[in-house]
Amino acid sequence: MSFPTHRPRRLRRTATIRAMVRETTLTPDRFIAPLFVTTGTGVRRGIAAMPGCDQMSVDVTVDECRSLADVGVSGVILFGIPDSKDPHGYGAADPDGPVPQALTAIRAACPTLSLWADVCLCEYTDHGHCGPLATAPTGEVVVDNDAALPRLAEAARCYAKAGADVVAPSDMMDGRVAAIRAALDADGRSDVAIVSYAAKYASAFYGPFREAAGSAPSFGDRRSYQMDPANAREALAEVETDIAEGADVIMVKPALAYLDVIRRVRDHVHVPVAAYNVSGEYSMIKAAAANGWLDEPRAILEVLTSIRRAGADIILTYFAKEAARLLG
Ligand code: PBG
Repeated sequence: MSFPTHRPRRLRRTATIRAMVRETTLTPDRFIAPLFVTTGTGVRRGIAAMPGCDQMSVDVTVDECRSLADVGVSGVILFGIPDSKDPHGYGAADPDGPVPQALTAIRAACPTLSLWADVCLCEYTDHGHCGPLATAPTGEVVVDNDAALPRLAEAARCYAKAGADVVAPSDMMDGRVAAIRAALDADGRSDVAIVSYAAKYASAFYGPFREAAGSAPSFGDRRSYQMDPANAREALAEVETDIAEGADVIMVKPALAYLDVIRRVRDHVHVPVAAYNVSGEYSMIKAAAANGWLDEPRAILEVLTSIRRAGADIILTYFAKEAARLLG
């Protein structure tokens, strides 16, 4: 059928008709808000590279969670900013650390919010890599995959004990989903879900996060463990491995430069797919809006819609509260 019989504009004429034929929906019950939890009380410290996001102490984090729950955001994912770091990242599993403390406090204040704990060592190692270091037979300093596994499993056990519904390993060590699943099950926590950052790329768009979490590597980069941005087939292999090891949900990260990967993964697997709308994607919109170059509310909703349209069931986004308000 062709023009003039066929006129696509008929179904774009009014807001009601457009809503009736809309293919993709955006609702806050699919949003997870990342939060940076630090020590102390009454602390709300701005993050220069992420206007509108703050490092918060546990008490302030709880207030923030109340307002997120009020606007219908599904959950939060917590990142810890500890007072001290060590070469192995032992602090990741410290029950007195900011993340376990916050989990317990939020659980009491916001019973319906889903509580996610990011599991990684980079915020807790003094060198900023996602696992302990070792010297390879070649003399090269490498991130020691197998030595990281018990540290990650310990961290996951600690967060589960503190009340996490979900643990989300973001380290990209091989075998970590299996190690975490076994540790949780041995503790009788078979009901705690694992969302694995399965296809996590070595991306420039994590720049602002590394300021927010104080987790920039002190030397080198993360290309020996995070994925090459040029690879999409490999993402399918990564998600298959993580599902086989026990991941309940798999994640693609970043989102915007990887919408094709989200779609391919969505079409390939039968578990829910999460996508992480990362710090650089957030800050680009904030910077452009601050200059008057973009209509911020429209840009936020368009970007989040694109991530849902690509196939993500769940979106981790620093825009969670703002977007929920815009939709409400
Ligand atoms: C830690 C981690 C990172 C992010 C989430 N978990 C940083 C990194 O891998 O360097 C990035 C999140 C963002 O940029 O918003 N492994």
